[in-house]
Amino acid sequence: MENKLKQMVILASDAIKKCKTINELMDVKALYLGKKSEFNTIMQDLKGLSDEEKPRIGKMVNEAKQAISALIEERKNHIDREKIDALLKEQTIDITLPGKKIAIGHKHILTKTIEEIEDIFVGLGYTIKEGPEIESDKYNFEMLNLPKDHPAREMQDSFYITEETLLRTHTSPVQVRSLLANTNQEPLKIICPGVVYRKDDDDQTHSHQFMQIEALVVDEKATLADLKGTLLLVAKKLFGENREIRLRPSYFPFTEPSVEVDVSCFKCNGIGCSMCKQTGWIEILGAGMVNNNVLKAAGYDTDKYQGFALGMGIERIAMLKYGIEDIRHLYTNDLRFNSQF
Ligand code: PHE
Repeated sequence: MENKLKQMVILASDAIKKCKTINELMDVKALYLGKKSEFNTIMQDLKGLSDEEKPRIGKMVNEAKQAISALIEERKNHIDREKIDALLKEQTIDITLPGKKIAIGHKHILTKTIEEIEDIFVGLGYTIKEGPEIESDKYNFEMLNLPKDHPAREMQDSFYITEETLLRTHTSPVQVRSLLANTNQEPLKIICPGVVYRKDDDDQTHSHQFMQIEALVVDEKATLADLKGTLLLVAKKLFGENREIRLRPSYFPFTEPSVEVDVSCFKCNGIGCSMCKQTGWIEILGAGMVNNNVLKAAGYDTDKYQGFALGMGIERIAMLKYGIEDIRHLYTNDLRFNSQF
């Protein structure tokens, strides 16, 4: 019996060594350790042995099985390792090759322009306020001294949703909201950036949707001189230290007096060129002293308080600054355009 077991281990060992694949190895395993293996026959035969022999032979059978199991395990590891070695040899990696570059995006030129303007005002102590794009007629027009049927409503052709709601035509309703929220009627110094909508036909310089930044200061001593100083500083920061500004009388229902602001041409320094249409000046924004009717509607005492406001189109500023000749480039997301900035 002992010899027979030894013989079986030797035979199994030979067979295992010859295995080249896991499948072959599994066949050998079934043959030697499976249900129909010779070991099971031997175990059956154990019944006929004496009580002394039984444990001795049983132990030997177990040891033989364990030896074969160990050999199989070892062979399996060997086959696995060979497989990995072969793969590694086949798929050599050239670590000296340059890596693949990941394209990294950057902020859109409009975003950069907004942030630049915001930074100027935040540096002057303004806080940023935002509001809804779907606005009530009351905040967009009425409280800004533009009652229903006021002819100046035509200056801002509007997308109405219902009779009382529309897509805001400017960010001035955020100023109304901020004035109303300021229940103690305290001084206010805010800027309101955001998207606005007007029923314009899209062309090189018009878009039915564009962006504005408006500023509002309400204080006991906010004067037209303060407005002018602020405008000059903003113009210099945006278009260069040598810039000058000029104010031309204009009309907005929410400001009185109202002005249109020009900056001296930064291309020809005011001599006259195609950029400034030979005038030396480029119009950049509208502004004025807040109309008393607006302050009163928001509950402010106009004997005590006055304010100034200004509003600019962000696309226009970006187009002027970066020489962009068509507003639509700012929305079409053509990478050939976007990546230039
Ligand atoms: N809300 C005005 C517009 O969109 C811009 C503006 C703001 C003008 C503040 C004057 C003062 O036309």
